[in-house]
Amino acid sequence: MIENTLVLIKPDAFDKKYTGRILTCYEENGLKIKALKLLKMTPELAAKHYAEHIGKDFYDELVGFMTSAPLVAMVLTGENAIAKVRALNGATNPEKAAAGTIRKEYAQSVQHNAVHASDGLESAAREIHIFFNETEIFD
Ligand code: PPS
Repeated sequence: MIENTLVLIKPDAFDKKYTGRILTCYEENGLKIKALKLLKMTPELAAKHYAEHIGKDFYDELVGFMTSAPLVAMVLTGENAIAKVRALNGATNPEKAAAGTIRKEYAQSVQHNAVHASDGLESAAREIHIFFNETEIFD
């Protein structure tokens, strides 16, 4: 099934100039960019995006980090894109990420973990429209 998914290159990976290498990894694995922008997350945007984590002990630190510096937001599309991107990213905790995954290569910790990707069809549809309007998404 052809799916769309929302991916963020987080402030740690953007700052370390890993963007090009991460985009190459997605493109070389059959994914196509449908939308792309550089932005600084606001606390309001973070609250929408991370609504499921509000109240968790790491939430304030997570928002502080995600609003601290620019990040890259994109929509990727392709066959089974949601699972494919999550496999390419590796485990949330880079210590548990498999060799060759983006987080194994470029992440430092569970918070500074280089990338975010939608975890299902419903969250992908929700997250894509937090970051992009229809005129910014191309086929
Ligand atoms: S959990 O624990 O099941 O809610 O974890 P998960 O759904 O994988 O995503 C958690 C996101 O919050 C970020 N984050 C942390 N998670 C767990 N523990 C700590 N201390 C923590 N700090 C930050 C983590 O990077 C996940 O971000 P996203 O952007 O969703 O990948």
